[in-house]
Amino acid sequence: MPTIKDITSQPPVKDPYRYNGEALPMNAGAEPITGLRRFYIESYGCQMNFSDSEIVASILSEAGFGPTRNMEEADLILVNTCSIREKAEQTVRNRLTAFRHLKRERPGMLIGVLGCMAERLKSKLLEEEKLVDMVVGPDAYRTLPQLVEEAGDGRKAVNVLLSRDETYSDISPVRINSNGVTAFVSIMRGCNNMCAFCVVPFTRGRERSRDAASIVAECRDLFDRGFREVTLLGQNVDSYCHIEEQTGQTITFAHLLAMTAAINPLLRIRFSTSHPKDITDDVLHTMATHVNICRYIHLPLQAGSTRVLQLMNRTYTREWYLAKVRRIREIMPDCGISSDIIAGFCTEAEEDHQDTLDVMRQSRYDFSYMFMYSERPGTLAARRYADDVPHDIKKRRLEEIVTLQNRLSLESNLADVGQTFQVLIEGNSKRSELHWMGRNSQNKVIVFPKSDLPGKAPGDFADVTVTECTQATLMGVAVTPTPA
Ligand code: SAH
Ligand code: SF4
Ligand code: F3S
Repeated sequence: MPTIKDITSQPPVKDPYRYNGEALPMNAGAEPITGLRRFYIESYGCQMNFSDSEIVASILSEAGFGPTRNMEEADLILVNTCSIREKAEQTVRNRLTAFRHLKRERPGMLIGVLGCMAERLKSKLLEEEKLVDMVVGPDAYRTLPQLVEEAGDGRKAVNVLLSRDETYSDISPVRINSNGVTAFVSIMRGCNNMCAFCVVPFTRGRERSRDAASIVAECRDLFDRGFREVTLLGQNVDSYCHIEEQTGQTITFAHLLAMTAAINPLLRIRFSTSHPKDITDDVLHTMATHVNICRYIHLPLQAGSTRVLQLMNRTYTREWYLAKVRRIREIMPDCGISSDIIAGFCTEAEEDHQDTLDVMRQSRYDFSYMFMYSERPGTLAARRYADDVPHDIKKRRLEEIVTLQNRLSLESNLADVGQTFQVLIEGNSKRSELHWMGRNSQNKVIVFPKSDLPGKAPGDFADVTVTECTQATLMGVAVTPTPA
């Protein structure tokens, strides 16, 4: 077995949908390994896809494939795709055309489409994209080695079966997109909510929780290997629920948080994503009692008007959402909160849009991921409602939402100036090798000069006093080192 080291030039995706759910190529690569068939993988979409690509890398490595960063020398090109908005799918289709010349030059090379587009379009994708050899849905990655054999024999291979079980519990992901400090750990798959706009329940299937013991074991192993932060991943982490086989005990998300936090005080715990309807006081109190559970909650609003929320089938009202935000701040006054917002959902009127802006102002989000509504075939909204807000109005409303969020982010960052935060160093700052970049508990990026604390390295903690900021970043100076 080749050892797979840190083999990525790309920074890891830290935030969900940070790149708008659209293109974010992730390359797996390593030193050329002679005699091995090589795979190259690119991931698009949410953290779950990036995490799944690490599972795919593990399955293929076990089957005798070696990763490569260079698609020119790959025998197998895999694209892990996203269907969340039309643009995300278009990005993948454009990307596929870029592989055409490679296939001409290397006739035996195979191209596989993985992930949500594979699941949504199934064998139709083979008809639409002639150069694709394999279509593999998110629950079928264990069969990849067989599918590669089939496709290698010239038969197009499709497996889009969804599973009712947590499919990959026992697989140790190969950390191909790792900085060696932070990692994603899947705790559940699928989604049972039926938000009217959303394709995920169709592409990812029913909710399934992974057993707590294997999650804790994976987190402990990461800690032992030097990782200092894990993000527990699921579409709806607050509905995590698993009955332990040996004890018969029901483990809730609050229990799971406490179990992972107990691994070591130096291991930070994050999670994503919380549905506002499901995040309980139990979870908030568990966060408050463990300093190593990060003070940060991604709490997608989607829309601020109760009427639109009802059409979206979000199951909460604007007042209920605002009460949840107040509750978070009551229990953890220093908690960071971010959101997802959709502009121009079906029937959205100007007053509904104003309601969204109003909830944003009241919630004082630290940051948000903001999108124009994009109708997805087969969803409740596509079947029931007309996509009736004209594009230019959607665009203008999105611009207003973005402008407001920029102001809120700046205000939030200005309030941090003068305060000292514990920062986990992740690596060099993007702009300068003379600066470290890390995050505080609230998930804000903080940059500070390396010369402040000689001898520090990625994975170390530092106390940093914020001296200035932009809307996106805090800049500071390191003070007395935090004892390790
Ligand atoms: N499970 C997560 C969301 C996953 S999708 C949750 O419930 O929070 C990520 C975000 O994409 C959503 O929160 C939503 O804001 C956005 N999104 C989903 N479907 C969309 C669509 N059809 N058009 C535009 N944005 C969409
Ligand atoms: Fe989609 Fe709603 Fe499920 Fe999130 S909770 S994945 S938005 S259906
Ligand atoms: Fe996209 Fe699928 Fe994630 S649709 S956002 S990759 S679950």
